[in-house]
Amino acid sequence: MTTPQFYQLHDSNSTAVKAAIRAELTEGLLKPQAAVSPKYLYDALGSRLFDAITELPEYYPTRTEGTIIAQHLTAIAQQTPKGAALIDLGAGSCEKAARLFEALKPAHYIPIDISVEYLRQTVHCLQREYPQMRMSGVGMDFSSEMLLPAELMAQIKGLPIVVFYPGSSIGNFAPEDARALLSRAHALCKLGGAGSGLLIGVDLVKPSEILEPAYDDALGVTASFNLNMLLNINNLLGSNFAPQDWQHVAFFDKQLSRIEMHLQAKHDVTVTWPGHTREFKRGGDIHTENSYKWTISGFADLLQSAGFSKPTSWTDAKDWFSVHWAST
Ligand code: AVI
Repeated sequence: MTTPQFYQLHDSNSTAVKAAIRAELTEGLLKPQAAVSPKYLYDALGSRLFDAITELPEYYPTRTEGTIIAQHLTAIAQQTPKGAALIDLGAGSCEKAARLFEALKPAHYIPIDISVEYLRQTVHCLQREYPQMRMSGVGMDFSSEMLLPAELMAQIKGLPIVVFYPGSSIGNFAPEDARALLSRAHALCKLGGAGSGLLIGVDLVKPSEILEPAYDDALGVTASFNLNMLLNINNLLGSNFAPQDWQHVAFFDKQLSRIEMHLQAKHDVTVTWPGHTREFKRGGDIHTENSYKWTISGFADLLQSAGFSKPTSWTDAKDWFSVHWAST
């Protein structure tokens, strides 16, 4: 059996990274329209709450993407190269990529997440199931750069590269940032052998009546996910946010084609953290996430503007979600 390897490139515990995080949070919280990056939704509890969201009846994306991939697996396998290095962005539980293994038969599986610790146990389990496949877990922040360790690049030299980015996480980036991220994915694919490309899941525009409950569910799991960001900020910044002072708000902005999530003050609130104070009036809010919804043709244009070829796209029967394969 091959032994999995692990690399940690992003050190969230270093003094410099912690200071940069505090500076970023402070800057966002002091803006006239306070805003915090959605990446701060995902501490340990936030990641578990997100997993719970994916099980909610209202949150269709995960389920629908799974159905599309299952229904079109043969066609997907025909388009994508066999024996590739399968690079899984934001892998988490590696569950979605593992469903591709039988059809795509990757030679080397490379799950990437912010912390390699999230990957260790799952990759060890997967390795026992697929003893012949090489597996290398990488801890890095791929939203800022997509450079794999030189040692790992040497191991996959000559193999086609398939970058897998499911879940419509691309929707959490503004179009310009999404294009930049896709360009980095394209540059990575260019380092691979013939047939390299990107397999990506993207949520589609649909009526607000379907979109809004998906981000404001009856059980309040998404509200807890959003409110938990305040606890994470308290830990990172030493602030005194009290979740009970805030409420979850989510709405679809048709013009901008995005769901916006906010945390709104239920009454006047003063928040303090070392060296700073911010007053929020009742109804004042912190913008915590955007989730852009694309049309098939709009996303195809975005892929091409990032350097990819015109994609092959698959959707579900209701056209709620899409999966695209775009080669280099
Ligand atoms: C991770 N991402 C694709 C989710 C989304 O749908 O934008 C995050 C999320 N936010 C609220 N619910 C789910």
